[in-house]
Amino acid sequence: MLILGIDTSCDDTSAAVVEDGGRIVSNIVSGQSDIHMKYGGIVPELASRRHIEMIVPVVEEALEKAGLPLTGLSAVAVCHGPGLIGSLLIGCSFAKALCYSAGIPLVAVNHLEGHILSPFLDARPPEFPFLSLIVSGGHTSLFVAEAAGRYREIGRTRDDAAGEAYDKVSKLLGLGYPGGPIIDRLAGDGDPASIDFPRAYLPGTLDFSFSGLKTAVLNFLRTQSGSAARGAAALPPATVSDVAASFQKAVVDVLVRKTEWAIKKMGIRSVAISGGVAANSELRRRMKEMAGDRGAEIFIPAVPLCTDNAAMIAAAGRHHLTEGDIAGPDLNPRAYLPL
Ligand code: KG4
Ligand code: ZN
Repeated sequence: MLILGIDTSCDDTSAAVVEDGGRIVSNIVSGQSDIHMKYGGIVPELASRRHIEMIVPVVEEALEKAGLPLTGLSAVAVCHGPGLIGSLLIGCSFAKALCYSAGIPLVAVNHLEGHILSPFLDARPPEFPFLSLIVSGGHTSLFVAEAAGRYREIGRTRDDAAGEAYDKVSKLLGLGYPGGPIIDRLAGDGDPASIDFPRAYLPGTLDFSFSGLKTAVLNFLRTQSGSAARGAAALPPATVSDVAASFQKAVVDVLVRKTEWAIKKMGIRSVAISGGVAANSELRRRMKEMAGDRGAEIFIPAVPLCTDNAAMIAAAGRHHLTEGDIAGPDLNPRAYLPL
């Protein structure tokens, strides 16, 4: 079963061919950080325009690398939400037209389901049921994945997503977009114990909150001779690294502790972590350490499969196709789409 996946939910144009829901035949991701960098975040209108330019060459490249004609596909799986509505529209309209003209079935995939099932693209996938922590730019949620297509949310952020906090702190420091990889790198040179940023554990729940942490970073910068207005340029490089390391430790402490609580509460010892922040070196290290202490098994996709990619959409598309869950020409993207 060969499925072409398409994801244009945010600022990456991606197309991939995946065999039997797990073997990547090709996976092309065309990023846009060059356009959004100077604004310190994604400008939705610019993202949509770049998707229009890139969707045809990216899909062509994915098929070419797979050595496949369109007629060799079992289906096309497209992400129809959640995400930026203008961006989603490009992928959905393109996928509908492609399927209509080539007579191929179309399946619609929720972006979050793609992230949850991304560990199935690895050589050693988890078995159901497993806990799934999605940590990305748009979401921070804990799910119980009971079976393919059956996911129960047991915790979610009440305000900012973890990746959003990374991006906003990076912007405050004048470091650029996306903030996650930049802060991850700088944190390696800083002292994580140098600044005592707050951790919102929200005892008794599996929910998250990161907006207070972001405000604490802003308040700290205000105490540093007006650096909040001037960004990292006003701070000695050692202080920027210390802010990065201390902020990152606060985020990772919370994500690890709450995942540990979820393992205990749900009695499930298989944990998958996905989404862009799962690419974070410190989070990967600490989660593996915690899982070792708790006798749990941890599944974290390879770094390129943590951030947005169409291979995860194709992987998730397989079970929709198997179940006969086919989308029609009336498929519309949705910015808000609960799982
Ligand atoms: O999953 P993703 O590509 O898109 C969404 O669905 O949101 O996640 C993007 C987010 C961004 O906020 C980015 O800053 C963050 O993932 N990110 C990281 C790292 N790489 C990407 N955050 C922390 N450390 C990283 N190494
Ligand atoms: Zn994502």
